[in-house]
Amino acid sequence: MPEISVSVLTVDKENAVSTFYNLETAKIDYFHIDVMDGKFVKKNNLDIMKEYALTISHISNIGLDVHLMVEDVEDIMDDYIFLETQIITFHYEAVKNKERIFNIIEDLKENNIKVGIAVNPDTCIDNIKEFCPYIHQITVMTVVPGEGGQKLIPETLDKIKQLKKYLNENYLDINIEADGGIKDYNANDVIEAGSDILVSGSYVINSDNYKEAVNKLKGF
Ligand code: DX5
Ligand code: ZN
Repeated sequence: MPEISVSVLTVDKENAVSTFYNLETAKIDYFHIDVMDGKFVKKNNLDIMKEYALTISHISNIGLDVHLMVEDVEDIMDDYIFLETQIITFHYEAVKNKERIFNIIEDLKENNIKVGIAVNPDTCIDNIKEFCPYIHQITVMTVVPGEGGQKLIPETLDKIKQLKKYLNENYLDINIEADGGIKDYNANDVIEAGSDILVSGSYVINSDNYKEAVNKLKGF
């Protein structure tokens, strides 16, 4: 059964605390913190995502699944390291340089934080194969990063299948997280493709029953 990581990207500020409590009651597996710097993607929500992460870390024991859509990974990840974040995922496309990537991986591990690398829909997984033995998660973007509420790009499911096959053939015990456009009507396809963790934002946040929405994504 997949784990569900709910994106707080579209949570409005005035109801944030009650939303976080209700998500905890709905037994989500992670809070997905979508951090955007206005450079790697258009939107800049650095301050509010830091505030949300801080609030959640004070009121809930559910892990933070931080998704950095930023260029300056090393600088911005520091904001989340002290929050006992479960996992920090950065974009291959934001770093690319092999030495820099290995330094980020080492830095996060030294702080006891799991490491994820995210790939955009048009990035081939061959680019990240060399990092697989050293990381805990690969986030396959099933939308172009930068917005909530988009439609899942169907071709990305083949990419998840390819990645799953590669990981199995090489005995690599890495989670595949699918991120973007995941709803009740496509969740099963995303799971069948080989995803271990489903990120869902608008489908859950806009629902009138979080528990029901989460259960539908889990396939109940
Ligand atoms: C997009 C983010 C996703 C998105 C998910 O850049 O990384 O996490 O907020 O939200 P939905 O489920 O609405 O696509
Ligand atoms: Zn995300």
